[in-house]
Amino acid sequence: MGKRADKPVWQKKDLLDIEHLSADEMTLILDTAASFKEVSARPIKKVPALRGKTVVNLFFEPSTRTRASFELAEKRLSGDVLNLSSSTSSVLKGETLLDTLANIEAMNVDVVIVRHSAAGAPHLLAAHSNVSVVNAGDGAHEHPTQALLDLYTVREQLGKLDGIKIAMIGDIAHSRVARSNIWGFSKFGAEVWVCGPTTLLPPCIDKMGVNVTYRLEEALEDADVIYALRIQHERQRKGLLPTLREYIRLFGINRQTIQAATAEALIMHPGPMNRNVELESEIADGPNNVILDQVTNGVAVRMAVLYLVGTRDMKDGSAS
Ligand code: NCD
Repeated sequence: MGKRADKPVWQKKDLLDIEHLSADEMTLILDTAASFKEVSARPIKKVPALRGKTVVNLFFEPSTRTRASFELAEKRLSGDVLNLSSSTSSVLKGETLLDTLANIEAMNVDVVIVRHSAAGAPHLLAAHSNVSVVNAGDGAHEHPTQALLDLYTVREQLGKLDGIKIAMIGDIAHSRVARSNIWGFSKFGAEVWVCGPTTLLPPCIDKMGVNVTYRLEEALEDADVIYALRIQHERQRKGLLPTLREYIRLFGINRQTIQAATAEALIMHPGPMNRNVELESEIADGPNNVILDQVTNGVAVRMAVLYLVGTRDMKDGSAS
């Protein structure tokens, strides 16, 4: 009621990916997160923004940090929370994903957070239900809240996103984090570089508008942000990496290789990190690392997303 016409209003039922979000929509999420961040620093960490709303965490893939981050965000907004994982759901008894959602929806829930190994699973669910769906990671496709918390962290640290150089290093091919961040940082006018072994860089990645290099030195030169991605050991078994030692020598961020970067470059990692593989401990724990800030900001960003999609029906002019 009485909403000013010039104030941006969230319109979307779901948050499925970064590809289809505009910079203005992302800015609305980041600005909303900024107002929620302070809640987590209070002695009593709770606001009533989602009181009376039910949120279901539907996780079909293992997850610790993302699931915990969503659950804390839900609880700090006073939402009612239900956790379902593949090991406890009827999917194991042969139920389809759509039937699982139909059953959840029949219990009048408001928001479903979905993590699934199949790319597009959250999109399928969103298209077949009236419940708001938030993608918490779908296969190697997207991980939108991770990108939003990364954008938030960089904006908070550097005061801007436009014109910065971000170098993402490692397994780009299998990384939903990389894909979401490429969309996100590019839409804000950042210069995005990707670097890794040929086997871990998708062939047409340059079509996404990024700069591609196989030389770590070139990626790190003048970078404002160095973003290391987890080396997934399962990939090594599939022959995509010759040896871990060689990977560390060519792409590991350590005291020697970091010389190519400026002294102020931020060090980021989505977690879980393989210490002394993608980042040498000294760098991972060094003064420029913002890895735990990313985790802190993740709760605020997820609070913002939950609030925007979860209360969309309660706001003036939001239902077009
Ligand atoms: C990432 C994921 O699951 O996509 N982790 C996360 O959400 N914190 C990255 C990874 O697993 O390497």
